Amino acid sequence: MTWPMELVKLSDGYVTLREPVVDDADDLTAAAQDEQSQKYTKVPADYTHEMAVEYLQARAADPDTVMWAIELAEEPGRYAGNLEIRLIAANSRTVGLAFTTAPWARRKGVMTHAVKLARDYAFAHGARRVEVSTQAGNTASRMLLQNLDFVLEGVMQGSREHKGQRVDEALFSVSAASNTIDEAGVTE
Ligand SMILES: CC(C)(COP(=O)(O)OP(=O)(O)OC[C@H]1O[C@@H](n2cnc3c(N)ncnc32)[C@H](O)[C@@H]1OP(=O)(O)O)[C@@H](O)C(=O)NCCC(=O)NCCS
Repeated sequence: MTWPMELVKLSDGYVTLREPVVDDADDLTAAAQDEQSQKYTKVPADYTHEMAVEYLQARAADPDTVMWAIELAEEPGRYAGNLEIRLIAANSRTVGLAFTTAPWARRKGVMTHAVKLARDYAFAHGARRVEVSTQAGNTASRMLLQNLDFVLEGVMQGSREHKGQRVDEALFSVSAASNTIDEAGVTE
């Protein structure tokens, strides 16, 4: 598997995944402050613009993460969300995805398109398994993943610490067809 995967622009005509820029920080702040993001992601409460800038810088420097900002074709130039590919285990060629859609861009298919692009990009670079771990109560995330044929592997009771509480965590995955790995010319 190729790691780190290069942060190239990915597009299917409906969404574009591109390198995040500091100008995304205002929209990232708004997305982080949103109630659903607070409930289902690790973003701290009272999220500020400065925290968003630090987050963008930290992600860019993190060797275990590749993060894209997402744009929607009908609103070019506007941050519509972000998606990360994280290294889980190089020896089993496993990566994880994490994502958030900006509140204004939800229910437009943004993350469905973005997850498909990232999943295919990961497989093309030798990943064998793509995982998403979500709070078990995150219906939006679960529906999205099931629509894309991710398999629910199990629910781990109280396995995630979330803002002082223990919550159940659902693990989803999708595996590459063996021919995808062969075509990618992957070396161990
Ligand atoms: C989960 C999230 C990323 C979905 O992003 P999105 O761009 O709105 O998703 P899509 O428009 O591609 O939706 C795909 C499908 O997911 C399901 N879905 C999305 N939002 C939903 C909601 N609020 N309630 C129920 N199902 C929902 C639907 O089945 C939807 O298909 P449909 O619109 O044809 O019915 C977004 O709600 C979000 O950012 N939530 C807060 C942060 C978060 O939970 N991140 C994920 C952590 S694992």
